[in-house]
Amino acid sequence: MKIGVEKLSFNIPHLYVDMNELAIARDEEPAKYKIGIGQDEMAVTPVSQDPVTLAANAALQILTDEDRERIDLVMFATETSIDQSKAASVYVHRLVGLKEGTRSIELKHACYSGTAALQLAKGHVALNPESKVLIVASDIARYGLSTPGEVTQGAGAVAMLISNEPKVLLLDDDSTFITKDIMDFWRPNYSDYAYVDGKYSNDKYIEFFNDVWRAYQEKTGATLDDFEAICFHLPYTKMGMKALKTVLDQATEVTQERLTSYYDKSVIYSRKVGNVYSASLYLSLISLLENADELKENSKLGMFSYGSGAVGEFFTMTLQPNYKDYLYTETHKMMFENREKVSVATYEEIFEQVLPKDGSTVELDVADDPRPVRLTGIDKHMRQYSNN
Ligand code: CAA
Repeated sequence: MKIGVEKLSFNIPHLYVDMNELAIARDEEPAKYKIGIGQDEMAVTPVSQDPVTLAANAALQILTDEDRERIDLVMFATETSIDQSKAASVYVHRLVGLKEGTRSIELKHACYSGTAALQLAKGHVALNPESKVLIVASDIARYGLSTPGEVTQGAGAVAMLISNEPKVLLLDDDSTFITKDIMDFWRPNYSDYAYVDGKYSNDKYIEFFNDVWRAYQEKTGATLDDFEAICFHLPYTKMGMKALKTVLDQATEVTQERLTSYYDKSVIYSRKVGNVYSASLYLSLISLLENADELKENSKLGMFSYGSGAVGEFFTMTLQPNYKDYLYTETHKMMFENREKVSVATYEEIFEQVLPKDGSTVELDVADDPRPVRLTGIDKHMRQYSNN
């Protein structure tokens, strides 16, 4: 049976800050942010959006009533969970109108859990061919104002529908993966911000990529020349290129050129959004599919997933004929066009706005938030959502 991605889309906040302006405010050279890190703009999340609303708004873009009838599993991948107990998938289940007879679960493994969800979905559809699985990967990356990690913040969500009708991408059966207990990036339960050993995390990312790529070659006998393009988890857009460069000399010149030029297409969206943690690899995939004109149908795409802590996985997908017909390119173009730029001062003000933790009631003014699903407030520690 063919199993894979039937549809996929993303949603981002409607606000952003310009990295040129942020660099100047932080007394850094703009070239460091734009070239050294590789970010042009960064999504800014208003208080009326959280990982749940970002995810629900992404899912609403792709779901039809026929999908709702067949979905019997919803998985929410995130590392910026809003609750230690209640799964964010339950809110999404209600907000996007899934049927009661649906399993629902939240998954965590830093930026890797979207990939874990994808592999679990494949197993689920293999056992239940009539099922469809909704995966949402949604995160808000926060390191804190004026920290080295600030330039690598971002926010957004990707929604994917997995089924036995893989109109966009077929999931292949050749993954390689590793887990090692390391402390490169983590966020203890009591902290709103991630802790990170920046340079060490960069080194580990590359080491894990090399390990799973080597294992993949040993397992399958494939070479870089067998790939049309490779997508990377993108904590910032320079990172994937650093990893790719460590293996590029294994390929012919033609392949080197192809992989490099498609890499540039795969980072177009992330350059404007920033890190979306569990959704980053999939934002990179969507960017590639929507911005590269020439990708060969039935060709193989490589995918490198990395989740700090850490796990790495290399897996592949096969592009389906006419895949372009099933993308949401125009929706995404409009989403970017309709974004509003905010000043660094406004970004800082928004960054400091948080919900109360003492059980008090707050009603948020959501009039300026254009997304259909919004966080309207909090009452007795319960988040309130609306879907217009
Ligand atoms: N013009 C051009 N380039 C410039 C420049 C200029 N004027 N000034 C500096 N640069 C370059 C530097 O040479 C450097 O390039 P290389 O990495 O190729 O050497 C780059 O800009 C960054 O400069 P620094 O190393 O000095 O930057 P920094 O110390 O301020 O921090 C960082 C960079 C470590 C990535 C930091 O932003 C950070 O900690 N980010 C969060 C952690 C992270 O993203 N880790 C990635 C791997 S972990 C992962 O993938 C999981 C996840 O999602 C978090």
